[in-house]
Amino acid sequence: MFYKIARDLMFCADAEKSHHFALDSLKALQHTPLSMLWRQQIQPKPLTVAGITFDNPVGLAAGLDKNADCIDAFAQMGFGFIEVGTVTPRPQAGNDKPRLFRLPEANAIINRMGFNNKGVDYLVENVKKAQYKGVLGINIGKNKDTPNEQGKDDYVHCMRKVYPYASYITVNISSPNTPGLRDLQFGDALLDLLNAVKNEQLDLAAKHGKYVPVFVKIAPDMDEVAVQQVAETLLQSKMDGAIATNTTLERSAVAGLKHANESGGLSGAPVRLKSTEVIRQLRSAVGPDMPIIGVGGIDSAESAQEKLNAGAQLVQIYTGFIYQGPQLIRSIVNSL
Ligand SMILES: Cc1cc2nc3c(=O)[nH]c(=O)nc-3n(C[C@H](O)[C@H](O)[C@H](O)COP(=O)(O)O)c2cc1C
Repeated sequence: MFYKIARDLMFCADAEKSHHFALDSLKALQHTPLSMLWRQQIQPKPLTVAGITFDNPVGLAAGLDKNADCIDAFAQMGFGFIEVGTVTPRPQAGNDKPRLFRLPEANAIINRMGFNNKGVDYLVENVKKAQYKGVLGINIGKNKDTPNEQGKDDYVHCMRKVYPYASYITVNISSPNTPGLRDLQFGDALLDLLNAVKNEQLDLAAKHGKYVPVFVKIAPDMDEVAVQQVAETLLQSKMDGAIATNTTLERSAVAGLKHANESGGLSGAPVRLKSTEVIRQLRSAVGPDMPIIGVGGIDSAESAQEKLNAGAQLVQIYTGFIYQGPQLIRSIVNSL
């Protein structure tokens, strides 16, 4: 009820302004009695994936809490895991505004934020301050002005900074809003990047005396052959898992709607089937063992189950959560 009123008010304002207002409010109130406004008890449904034990299989997807300002607030809502970021080595402003658009008729969002974030050092300080003791993923990327040939240096830099504090690390190579980033998903560029990530992970594991799994987040805009090639490279470079998927560039499902022609990544209901198909293809290509986190258009218990049926062990939500609020976590977890 509270969320519905808050959402209806926020939906009257500019999308990005409402987003910052909501995050600022969560940050200011997360350690006060007013956190009861969003706090909820979720029935534990523990499961172990990639050696990590999750309280329940429903996580917050990357991009909502880019700077890890509100970890405790999202934990209070009952997420089984929280992924913060994408964070880059240096702070960056992201693309020009406006860059975030709601498409309510389609339960969708288009964004071209462009990895706006305060840099990895700021994020790490926030993570250190959080009281949350549950599963925390930290999603890393490269700065816009770092050429792709040096992209791996940015990923390695972020890995070194976040490694001691992350339950898992996500290598994000699938945002459509950093020019050329998605090129890192293919061929030698992918193998070269993931080999560097693997070497760094093993060095850090020895240094810190703990093994932090690395997941690779991929785009939905790939045909089956491309998914198979990505899968082979994930296996070859011994990645711990995949997150499928990021937002889509395709617009067919929203053609004619207001904002449909804005550039950027489309998320929410229109990406659901595409993302499920990529998960299905990925599962068949990587075999039964590699963990997959399914994300894209989950807005109900049924759509979460669809991702699990396609081969994911865990799910994440972003756009569905914006439209429905914390009760979506409860309805999915209760149904599983
Ligand atoms: C406004 C916005 C910002 C996002 N930023 C990121 C990001 O920084 N890193 C990332 O890996 N994914 C990002 N995503 C993608 C989501 O994590 C998710 O993969 C995608 O939206 C599909 O899930 P959904 O349909 O539940 O939203 C963003 C999505 C939205 C809507």
